[in-house]
Amino acid sequence: MSEIERVGVVGAGLMGAGIAEVCARSGCDVLVVEQNRDAVELGSRRLLGSLDRAVRSGKLTTAEREQAAWRLRWSTDLGDLADRQLVVEAVGEDEQLKTDVVGTVCKVLTDRDAVIASNTSSIPIMKLATATDRPGNVVGLHFFNPVPVMPLVEVVGSLTTSPRTRDRVESFVTRRLGKQTIRATDRAGFVVNALLVPYLLAAVRMVESGTATAADVDAGMRLGCAHPMGPLELCDLIGLDTVTAIAESMYAEYHEPLYAPPPLLRRMVEAGLYGRKTGRGFHPYPSKKEEAA
Ligand code: 3HC
Repeated sequence: MSEIERVGVVGAGLMGAGIAEVCARSGCDVLVVEQNRDAVELGSRRLLGSLDRAVRSGKLTTAEREQAAWRLRWSTDLGDLADRQLVVEAVGEDEQLKTDVVGTVCKVLTDRDAVIASNTSSIPIMKLATATDRPGNVVGLHFFNPVPVMPLVEVVGSLTTSPRTRDRVESFVTRRLGKQTIRATDRAGFVVNALLVPYLLAAVRMVESGTATAADVDAGMRLGCAHPMGPLELCDLIGLDTVTAIAESMYAEYHEPLYAPPPLLRRMVEAGLYGRKTGRGFHPYPSKKEEAA
């Protein structure tokens, strides 16, 4: 079977833009699909900003940045993915939305061996596979935020994922993208989120109950346990909307109280306090303009 060279990414949010970036930096031809021109504009600014950051920190040369940018194309039409060998779905953590995208992508792909991967954090891969007529080609590829920095990808096979599909994507992720993989079974939260999310929710409950402030909870885990960031800073990085959606999927799967999103988290999401992406979550993230003022 031919090596994967032509990659499609659906969704150019934090995760989708990061996945598209690492694929383009690894020499793949990448087509990114977003739902409208504004989303394309935002996603491409996010991605090019991240490439610029890599140049500033000496991880990329200017020539490599140009080559990566040149390998990226943008579209608002899922039909343009027809010739892709691998499509990674990275739309919002919403089961219906993901099922629709995966079903449509499967219909447009002309290569019968093309792999359809989902970057879902918690939705069972089987639910997405059954939306297609080739469930053997559907697999979970769960990247971590920030994608250009975090070395891990969870590879999640469902009951119907073919060993050939799993081997093919594992080889692509390790040999082509230079990331490390771990295998997880198709259970909500896989390995990492099944451990991480209860910890994040416990930190939210701690703030909610007045046990400690967000700043102190974060300092506690940074300084006491040498974590690179505290749990509430991490919630802000991931996005409180995403943390809530993941927790809800896990709660729906296991019905364990430790996965239930606490009321404070829900209220913050209702208020649009999503974290870094909206400028405020458990901590403020003023824009450059606001900082100057
Ligand atoms: N995009 C690209 N590169 C980034 C970046 C971003 N958003 N944020 C930071 N970086 C790079 C910087 O350029 C820098 O590179 P350099 O060392 O070559 O200069 C390096 O990362 C370190 O960045 P900084 O010096 O600015 O800041 P820190 O040292 O504080 O590191 C961090 C930032 C890498 C985000 C670090 O705090 C960290 O590792 N945090 C934990 C992240 C984590 O746990 N992620 C997993 C989340 S769970 C998940 O994604 C699963 C999902 O399903 C929820």
